[in-house]
Amino acid sequence: MCGIVGYVGPQQAAPILMDSLCRLEYRGYDSAGIAVRDGDGHTTVVKAKGRLKVLSEKIDGGRTLKGCIGIGHTRWATHGEPNEANAHPHISGSEPDDSAVVGVHNGIIENYAELKEKLVKAGYIFYSQTDTEVAVKLVDYYYKKYPTPSKAIAKAMMRIRGSYALAILFNDHQNQIWTARKDSPMIIGVTKGETFIASDVPAILKYTQDIYYVGNCEMACVEAGKVSFFNIDEEQLEKETVHITWDANAAERGGFEHFMIKEIHEQPKALQDTLNSLLNDGRLDITKSGITPEIARGISEISIVACGSAWHVGMAAKYVIEDIARIPVRVDVASEFRYHCPILQENALVIVISQSGETADSLAALREAKSRGIRTLAILNVLGSSIAREADHVLYTLAGPEIAVATTKAYSAQMLIGYVLAVELAFERGVIDEEKYKYYIAQLQTLPDKAEGLLEDKERIQWFASKFSTAHDAFFIGRGIDYAVALEGSLKMKEVSYVHSEAYAAGELKHGTISLIEDGTLLVGILTQNSLYEKTVSNMVECKTRGAYLMAVATAGHYDIEDTADFTIYVPNIDEHFAGSLTVIPLQLFGYYSSVSRGLDVDKPRNLAKSVTVE
Ligand code: F6R
Repeated sequence: MCGIVGYVGPQQAAPILMDSLCRLEYRGYDSAGIAVRDGDGHTTVVKAKGRLKVLSEKIDGGRTLKGCIGIGHTRWATHGEPNEANAHPHISGSEPDDSAVVGVHNGIIENYAELKEKLVKAGYIFYSQTDTEVAVKLVDYYYKKYPTPSKAIAKAMMRIRGSYALAILFNDHQNQIWTARKDSPMIIGVTKGETFIASDVPAILKYTQDIYYVGNCEMACVEAGKVSFFNIDEEQLEKETVHITWDANAAERGGFEHFMIKEIHEQPKALQDTLNSLLNDGRLDITKSGITPEIARGISEISIVACGSAWHVGMAAKYVIEDIARIPVRVDVASEFRYHCPILQENALVIVISQSGETADSLAALREAKSRGIRTLAILNVLGSSIAREADHVLYTLAGPEIAVATTKAYSAQMLIGYVLAVELAFERGVIDEEKYKYYIAQLQTLPDKAEGLLEDKERIQWFASKFSTAHDAFFIGRGIDYAVALEGSLKMKEVSYVHSEAYAAGELKHGTISLIEDGTLLVGILTQNSLYEKTVSNMVECKTRGAYLMAVATAGHYDIEDTADFTIYVPNIDEHFAGSLTVIPLQLFGYYSSVSRGLDVDKPRNLAKSVTVE
C-alpha cells in the first residue's frame, strides 16, 4: 500500500520520479507528491489530491521542477483523509520552506499519538493528521541531537512501533537519499552513475533488473551510482544484488485497454511457466523448495493461511489436497490466524499463499507459525519479498509482475501450485500409484491450452456483462471446489464493478440468504463436480422460482443445464479437481466486463490498493 520512489543521478529527477510513480499507482491512488532538490540546494515539495495525473498536470509531467535528486509517493490513506495536506512528502518544519528533513513513508506507525505528544512538547507544530509527519519530525528531532543521518534514523527506528519504509532527504546531505524499513518493502537499483529506489520492483524494472533488497530494520544511504547499507547499530553491511527475470515490458499494458484484461490473457502462460518450473523429466519436482520426499511423508496436517483471493486459493486447495493426498487441511484468513492461537500439530506444515509476499497479516501469520517451531512453506510471486526471506521453503508462481489491483494470473498460478502439491504429496505418501500420478500430470499439462480456449469465448461474456451492468446484487453458488471458485468469482465482481455480490455454498443459501432473491436478481451457479451437479441445479431452480436470473458455468457435456439457466458458459472437460482453474476465467471476464460497462476504473478500484502492507 502506497508507493515510494526515489532517484539520484545526472538526469532531471522529476520526470523519472513521475514515470516510476505511474508504475506504482496500483499501490495507492488517493493523492501523490514529490520532493526535488535543485542545484542551489533548495528542496521543492509539490503535492496533489487525487490520481497521479492531477499531480502530473500541476508540474507538467515533472518538467517544471529542476534538480537531479528527489523522492516521490503515491498514497493509500491510513491516517488522515486523502487531501493535499496529508499527502506525502512531509517536512520537518511547519512552513513549506522549513524542510531540513523531508520524507515519504509506507506503513503504519502504531505509537504515532504518543510520539506526536512528545514532539509537540518539544515545540514541533503539525500541519497534517498523518503518522508520516510524526516520523519525519521524529527523525529531525534526533538529527538535531545527533547530527548524522544514520544515527538520527536509527534512533527514530528504535522509538517507532509498527511498519514502515521511509525515504528521507536531509538538507545537510545534498546528494543523498536515506532509506530505512521494517515490515514494508524497499528496493534499490544501481546503474552507471544513477541510483533508483522504490517500494516495488515494477517501478524501476525499466532502468535495471539487478536489485538490492533493504533488509528488515536496515538503512541505506543512496548516492548517484552507489549505495551503502547499515544495520540499526550503524554497522555497514555487504549485500549482493538479486537478478529479476521479469521482462520490463511485462509491466506495460502492451496494447490492452487495462492491465486486468492483459493479465487475464496471460494466464495460459502463467500456468505453463509455473508448471514447467515444477516438472523435471516428466515428473513433478518440489525439492528445489527444500521439501524432500522425507519431509513430504512426515507432514501430519496442513494449515493454509492467506488473505483475499489467495485465501480463496487456499479454500480450493483444501478440497484438492484432502481428496487427492488425504491429508487434513485447515484454511484460515491470515488476520484471524495471527491472533487466535491456532492449535497446530508438531509435524504440521503451514502454507502461506501471497502474490506480493508483503501482505502484513500473511507475514505475521508466517512469523506466528515459525515462532512455534512449525515448518512453513510460502507460495509467492515476488522474488525476494519479505515472506520469501522468512519462510522455511518457497515455491514461486511464474506469473510475472501483476499490476491490476484485482488478481487474476497470480491466483491461477497459485491454484496450480496447490494441485502440484496435492499430487506430489499423494504420490510420496503412497496414496496414489504411478498410473494415477502420471494421469494427474497429464491432466495438468492440458490446463494452459484449455485456459487459452476459454479466452476465445469472451465476446459472449462481454455481451452478458453489459446486459447486467445495472444489476444491484449478484450471488455466486457452488459446492465443493465450485464453492471455492464462487468465492473468487464473487470477489472479482464486487471489487472491480461495485455490484454487491455474495458467494455461498449452494446448500447453505436457503438457510437465510435466499430471502434476498427477488425478481431479476442475478444468480451464478458453478457446476463442474459431477456428483454434486444435480444438487446445485436444484438450488439454482429454487432461486429461479423466486425470480432469479440464472447464469451457469458448467462443464461441457452438461447441455441440459440450458433448460434451467438463462445464460450458460461451458468449460472444457478436465479432471474435476483442476476444474476451478478453468471456471474462474469466465468469472474474471464477467467481473472485468461488468466494470468496463459501468465505466469504472478497472485497474484501480476505489478504496483498494495492491499489496496490503498494513493491518
Ligand atoms: C483481490 C486481491 C486481494 C489479494 C490479497 C492478498 O483481487 O488481489 O484479495 O489476493 O490482498 O494479497 P497477496 O496475495 O499479495 O498476499
